[in-house]
Amino acid sequence: MTVVISATGLYAPSNSVSNAELVASYNEYVERFNAANAAEIATGSVEALQPSSVEFIEKASGIKHRYVLEKEGLLDVERMVPNIPDRSNDDLSLMAEVSVIAGKQALERAGRNAADIDAVICSCSSLQRPYPALAIEVQDALGAGGFGYDMNVACSSATFAIQNAADIVRAGHARSVLVVNPELCTGHLNLRDRDTHFIFGDAAVAILVERADIAPAGAWAILGTKLQTRFSNNIRNNFGFLNRCDPEHRDDVDKLIIQQGRKVFKEVVPMVSEMILQHMAELDLKPTDLRRMWLHQANSNMNRLIAERVLGHEASQDESPTVLDEYGNTAGAGSIIAFHNHSADLKAGDRGLICSFGAGYSAGSIFVQKAA
Ligand code: COA
Repeated sequence: MTVVISATGLYAPSNSVSNAELVASYNEYVERFNAANAAEIATGSVEALQPSSVEFIEKASGIKHRYVLEKEGLLDVERMVPNIPDRSNDDLSLMAEVSVIAGKQALERAGRNAADIDAVICSCSSLQRPYPALAIEVQDALGAGGFGYDMNVACSSATFAIQNAADIVRAGHARSVLVVNPELCTGHLNLRDRDTHFIFGDAAVAILVERADIAPAGAWAILGTKLQTRFSNNIRNNFGFLNRCDPEHRDDVDKLIIQQGRKVFKEVVPMVSEMILQHMAELDLKPTDLRRMWLHQANSNMNRLIAERVLGHEASQDESPTVLDEYGNTAGAGSIIAFHNHSADLKAGDRGLICSFGAGYSAGSIFVQKAA
């Protein structure tokens, strides 16, 4: 049975932060820290912090700007944590709310009612709570039927969930599965860490996965999916219910994202490019068969290298569009935002690749072909 991506949806917050704003806040923090610790810095018992720079961020990552859920708390030098108040248990939770917005857009674009949905999968890097599953809350808020469950595979959350959804449809357990991928990444970002303070933005995407025989015109047939994981400590977040994080300890670096960026770069580029080439060989696809690659949006230099290794030449923006400059790294949502914003111009028969990679390590490749 052919399974398709019928439509996608995207939610991006209305607030945004430029590199200049982020760097101004960080550098003010550095000045205050160095002034407060001047005596210790002079004796060598505390290391002076170094300022960040807009030029470095753009060159090292390709990021110029990111959408954020809440801006003031994030830039407030006394705080440097987004100000996101708790909600009552009777209110729709924040991650469900953004998922519902993206989900409704996907349903609308496919001409579907929520009642047509047989399953909801919520898959993302950082879940707001362990239970009840966010997917069940989204299912309820939308008025969808069937069942829902949550998944968590860091930056590969969306591609892993697409394979799960496709398997559910193929097995006959559902005809339409809505995948939602809310990535509110500023919540796990350490804004006092020079190496990572600029990386992430907030967004949510939704992907409607269905049987081809009920899909709308212009859906994308899933030609094949392939997932891979390999344990690495180089991107890690230890936040969890066994080590509850009090508000005054929210800046504990151990409970936020920590990464060895250089190692990630060096180890993930070959892992992902080799996986893509192997998957292409299995599907009997040549680089010239690919009209476009929608890669995970982590770092423009990583993307450039991966695309070049797959295509055999440097990829143009048309062949491998970037949304990193505008959205920053939005974890699992990145490759789907690239697909959502840069696929309408493709023609029936055109083939492309949606590919994720990230913590775990985890990587997922999904080859798709536009139907008539
Ligand atoms: N502003 C200014 N300078 C900075 C800086 C900042 N915010 N952060 C680091 N630097 C400095 C470093 O101190 C270093 O200075 P030195 O040469 O005097 O020692 C220099 O810039 C280079 O730092 P380095 O960490 O080696 O930079 P890089 O080119 O490797 O880029 C990353 C760092 C994190 C952007 C890059 O390694 C990366 O993106 N890796 C992939 C990580 C990723 O995308 N993970 C997500 C999941 S896949």
